[in-house]
Amino acid sequence: MIRAALVVLLLSPGGVSPKLSCSHQDVLDHLNLTMSNEVFRLTRPVLDHTRPTEIELKLVLFSILAMIEKTQTFVPFLWAHMTWTNERIHWDPAQFCGISHITVPREMLWMPDLFIYEMTEKDSSPRNPFVVAYHNGTVMSEEDMRVVSSCRMCMHKFPFDTQSCSLTVGSAIHTVDEMILRSSFDSTRITEFTKEVLWSQGEWEFKHLAVGNRNFSYGGREWDTLVYTFTMKRRPLLHVLNLLVPIMFFLILDLASFFVADHRGEKLGFKVTVLLAISVLLLILNDILPSTSNHTPLIATYCIVIFGLMLLSVLETILVTFLLDMSQKKRPTHKRRNSTT
Ligand SMILES: *[C@@H]1O[C@H](CO)[C@@H](O)[C@H](O)[C@H]1NC(C)=O
Ligand SMILES: *[C@@H]1O[C@H](CO)[C@@H](O)[C@H](O)[C@H]1NC(C)=O
Ligand SMILES: *[C@@H]1O[C@H](CO)[C@@H](O)[C@H](O)[C@H]1NC(C)=O
Repeated sequence: MIRAALVVLLLSPGGVSPKLSCSHQDVLDHLNLTMSNEVFRLTRPVLDHTRPTEIELKLVLFSILAMIEKTQTFVPFLWAHMTWTNERIHWDPAQFCGISHITVPREMLWMPDLFIYEMTEKDSSPRNPFVVAYHNGTVMSEEDMRVVSSCRMCMHKFPFDTQSCSLTVGSAIHTVDEMILRSSFDSTRITEFTKEVLWSQGEWEFKHLAVGNRNFSYGGREWDTLVYTFTMKRRPLLHVLNLLVPIMFFLILDLASFFVADHRGEKLGFKVTVLLAISVLLLILNDILPSTSNHTPLIATYCIVIFGLMLLSVLETILVTFLLDMSQKKRPTHKRRNSTT
């Protein structure tokens, strides 16, 4: 018996003590991190309350889901990566078979109360239920989110426009002396990274992503915020083919009707039909453009000018028809008078 025990002791590698713990549960036991332990959840995880919690944020644009001009809405699909330090978490990986991180449910730990100022709709997609805690106290959270945000768009150059939409990330209640935000990438690096991972841009071509800190103060209190500004350029081809070119064609058609021989108002009917066709295109345009544009979009001016030209041409046709009718009414009486004399 004693000999067998000795052999086991000698065979254990490096003579490490046999009570070496190798499961994640052992780490949780060591930290006393349980669902019911409120110490980890209730307060900001710093041992000295004057120390602010520094949150490192990485926001990556995966896809531009929609840009709705009418309601001035920008809908990106984002991936958010956040890390901060929980000073209550610490263990030595050497004591736990080299376990350097554990995955725990989100509800077990304190989470920063970050939100996006421009967001107009709550994100209803399911959240990632876990966070990762590292042995040195770093906690990492990753999330996908579909953000419905408001964005002021300038439609002056539509459809050759470039739009900039901002997302401001900040804490709801923690002021600048309690929570500070850092971006892990600078603007150049984050632009490059976004261009690499962006998989769907649709109508919009992603140009640039700028990130910067801005202090937001209200009622004597100050919050640290991180502002992400997305710059996108519209691909105008669809609108050119759908709106600008057809409107031009209708104008040409209208001008070409000058060569149509007039048989009792047929020309007038043709012109009015073309005018109606243009009104349909204008209705489509009206669906796209917001009614609260501070600058009149150039395309509206373009349409009004073309519409005005066609209106003039219809009026001209009416006048010519009228004058022809007048002279025709006069002429037969002349003829009759001639034939009687
Ligand atoms: C672990 O936390 C519980 C409260 O959830 C507490 O009652 C208990 O004393 C703690 N144990 C240790 C060893 O700190
Ligand atoms: C903690 O460890 C992780 C992973 O090893 C590392 O990425 C992080 O920078 C460390 N944090 C600190 C504050 O040293
Ligand atoms: C925000 O305010 C804090 C504290 O007042 C200051 O340290 C920091 O430099 C300010 N940041 C900016 C971007 O103004």
